Amino acid sequence: MAQADIGLIGLGVMGSNLALNIAEKDHAIAVYNRTTSKTGIFFESAGELRERVLPCNSLEELVAAIRPPRPIILMVSAGPAVDEEIARLRKLLSENDIIIDAGNANFHDTVRRFHELEGSGLTFIGMGVSGGEEGARHGPSIMVGGTKQSYERVEGVLNDIAAKYEGEPCCAWLGTDGAGHFVKTIHNGIEYADMQMIAEIYGIFRDGLGMEAKEIAPVFAGWNRGRLNSYLIEITAEVLAADDPKTGQPMVDMILDSAGQKGTGRWSVIEAQQMGVPATAIEAAVAFRGLSAMKAEREAAEKAYGKLALEKRGTVSHDDLELALFAGKIGAYAQGFAVMTAASREFNWSLPMGTIAKIWRAGCIIRSQFLGRITDAFERADDLDNLFMAPSFVEMMKEAHPALRRIVAWAAAAGLPAPALSSALAYFDGYRQGRGTANLIQGQRDFFGAHGFERIDQAGESHGPWGSHG
Ligand code: 6PG
Repeated sequence: MAQADIGLIGLGVMGSNLALNIAEKDHAIAVYNRTTSKTGIFFESAGELRERVLPCNSLEELVAAIRPPRPIILMVSAGPAVDEEIARLRKLLSENDIIIDAGNANFHDTVRRFHELEGSGLTFIGMGVSGGEEGARHGPSIMVGGTKQSYERVEGVLNDIAAKYEGEPCCAWLGTDGAGHFVKTIHNGIEYADMQMIAEIYGIFRDGLGMEAKEIAPVFAGWNRGRLNSYLIEITAEVLAADDPKTGQPMVDMILDSAGQKGTGRWSVIEAQQMGVPATAIEAAVAFRGLSAMKAEREAAEKAYGKLALEKRGTVSHDDLELALFAGKIGAYAQGFAVMTAASREFNWSLPMGTIAKIWRAGCIIRSQFLGRITDAFERADDLDNLFMAPSFVEMMKEAHPALRRIVAWAAAAGLPAPALSSALAYFDGYRQGRGTANLIQGQRDFFGAHGFERIDQAGESHGPWGSHG
């Protein structure tokens, strides 16, 4: 007899933890993994939660174990594996069953899968899940895309397993087809920018001020009690404070300076570019992950140009660094939300911006106090085009941008790279400049290609007096 409320396929780290979270919240769950030995190991590790876990050795068994209409979560590697599982499930499932892809899918794939299943009787949910292993086990932030009706059928269990912020579940339906995975992609783009900016400030401490990891750690720990309070600042302090058990050195000093990336940061930049929305701080963060991986080239270049000496460069105040990081962060979030605003129009999603900031307040990697201010800003004006224009953000930026300016200038003079911080500053300066310099670009375009321009005193296309040069 079918007993499970829900099913899950893929017992990797995220899948196993999500399954345990579901069982712990009193939902019976049927689980299946292609390598079936993993299923047994998972079941054994489930302890007293085993009474609500039904291990299955085949997809047929899994499907039979779930009460219809069956929600089935896929937690398999993003890409072809998802399509393969859908193809297998299609043969076994019946009317109104729901396939939920909870991996880090490219939202274009989610849109395609959603429409491929339309008319088959089955429905598809693309669900962004953030919070890593710990989040999956004890409460992630959950970003859902699909039909509202299919969401309503799984809302109960999702709310139960999601992180709670002051009692409110960090889970919401954000729109149809790819909306959930799109928002998760932008979450990750912002995550990249947040992490890069923190690393830039760390670089200023380490290479500009000559501080040891152990001395930097308490500074971040202190900042975590202020306006920068966030999970990423909290773990930065912990990473900097940890010792390497093998050598006794600070752990961070023993880690190779070459960062990995799985693709979601890059996707967020590609989408921003496709829509013509500037997301320069996120772009800089993605680009610098790329540069970090070019270790051998960077070492050769350091030989060619000489190592930057830690000279007497004057100093910068910790307060300025804190405020600069805050201003940079505002820039990155302004860009991330602007990309979502554009996507919402482009894909007809009506993304609820205030709700997105709300469900990021707990559970996810970029969780922070600051997100509450974004929610407030959108609740006051849901047609806000850019966070920079929310009255509360105007106040915050007026206070913080001079510090960002000082830190970026100091870093540039010291030869220390601060790509995300300086991109955020340039974006802010460009955004607030009523008359920019694109008039010259238009003149050049007209000169070499007769592309035409609009005059400031006349509508319609005009051309310059360059005559035969054009
Ligand atoms: C999250 C994380 C998670 C994953 C990143 C890592 O929200 O829980 O973002 O999805 O850790 O995808 O991405 P990179 O490997 O690209 O840094």
